[in-house]
Amino acid sequence: MAEGDNNQGKNLFGLSGGDRSALLSRLKRAGSVSMQAQSGRTLDAVQWRAEPKMTRFDEFPAYKQIKMERSVAERAGILNPFFQCHDGIAKAETKINGETFLNFSTYDYLDLNGHPALEEAAVDALKRWGTSASASRLVSGERPPHRKLERTLADVYDAEDCIAYVSGHATNVSTIGKLFGAQDVIFHDSLSHNSIVMGAQTSGAKRISFPHNDMEALERLLREHRPKAQRALIVTEGVFSMDGNVANLPELVRLKKAWGCFLMLDEAHSLGVLGKTGRGTAEHFGIDPQEVDLWMGTLSKTCCGCGGYIAGCREVVELLKFTSPGFVYSVGMSPALAAASERAVKIMLAEPERVAKLQAVSHEFVRYAKSKGLDTGSAEGYAVVPLMLGSSLLAGKLASRMFARKVNVMPIIYPVVEEGAARLRFFLSAAHDVEHVHRAIDIVCEELPKARDDVARMSGKTE
Ligand SMILES: Cc1ncc(COP(=O)(O)O)c(C=O)c1O
Repeated sequence: MAEGDNNQGKNLFGLSGGDRSALLSRLKRAGSVSMQAQSGRTLDAVQWRAEPKMTRFDEFPAYKQIKMERSVAERAGILNPFFQCHDGIAKAETKINGETFLNFSTYDYLDLNGHPALEEAAVDALKRWGTSASASRLVSGERPPHRKLERTLADVYDAEDCIAYVSGHATNVSTIGKLFGAQDVIFHDSLSHNSIVMGAQTSGAKRISFPHNDMEALERLLREHRPKAQRALIVTEGVFSMDGNVANLPELVRLKKAWGCFLMLDEAHSLGVLGKTGRGTAEHFGIDPQEVDLWMGTLSKTCCGCGGYIAGCREVVELLKFTSPGFVYSVGMSPALAAASERAVKIMLAEPERVAKLQAVSHEFVRYAKSKGLDTGSAEGYAVVPLMLGSSLLAGKLASRMFARKVNVMPIIYPVVEEGAARLRFFLSAAHDVEHVHRAIDIVCEELPKARDDVARMSGKTE
């Protein structure tokens, strides 16, 4: 409640009499209110006391879960792979605690982080406009690099316009959350990124998750639910962030037309990765990009910056620029990052050999891994390649063993993926050579049987 609002007749968190009794009886049932408070006619902070455990963050179930998982991992001898601090720029190799690691954990798909042209663009912007955009762009945070970046990105998709947000995650939450509402329906792939799901939840629309990349199932769901809603959105990823396979864009375009839906593609892992010049999923399939209503992407991967964008028609960009909470109520991205990201897109378009190298090395990763009997799931050889392991314990153990062999690769475990679908996720980059790929897979082949033995021992199945 804002200052000056009429709160007469309300206390206990500003609730009116009826609401207060309802809340009290709910809390009473939940056992979180002292008996003294329940019996009082009027309540204030002195009379009303929450149970001590309701006022402590270390009592939050999610926090207890983190602590429990950490202690299980420690007891199992699994190194905590998270928040490792890198020195210098992470490329095909990276330095952690002064030691050199073969690196498969960077988003820098086209080997552009630290590129002199990006640094020059950033420094130039920094000198002219400082480190901060200083305000929301709507009010006084607009700077020339923002407009330039948006024009360059719009051209990538032959789109009329583009809006750049300060965060990739917020781009999805704010865009989906703002454009759709309670009378609408959103169909999203079951493996969609958290930001897509959160956007759909925020919108209040009916949310329907369709089985991963299953276009027949999507059509069945469209038949059942589309006619009951006002507007409908189908949203999915180009290259899937956890699995490295590609959405079936031709079929999605057919379905969106047949069922009168908007189509949105999240190109976070597709820009710079798919197509001859890195323009993404439309170029990969040879489809007119205007068939897709909303092209979403992030600046944190191929663009080596930070932020996200939506490219589309003039009207949707204008609508979002005036209403989308993550844009209106958030600062504009740092001009230096906007300038660097814009330069990255220009280099991507001018140097398609970077895209070709990334694709070649990714294909080789999948081919070589399969030839060694490893399971790369549904990966198609585009920058993201999972090594499917099944249990979170095995993924943690193998990641630790790889780290000990100076290979930096992250385990993806429950709850990020379902238990049973835990994996190591390898990010490839144009900085990698075939030798890096072979070396990493050869080490996997040596360490995986040992990690399996570790897990079996821990489960008491051997010795
Ligand atoms: C598919 C997808 N969409 C959106 C995001 C959010 O982007 P950012 O990390 O730039 O906020 C990510 C992040 O990795 C992603 O994988």
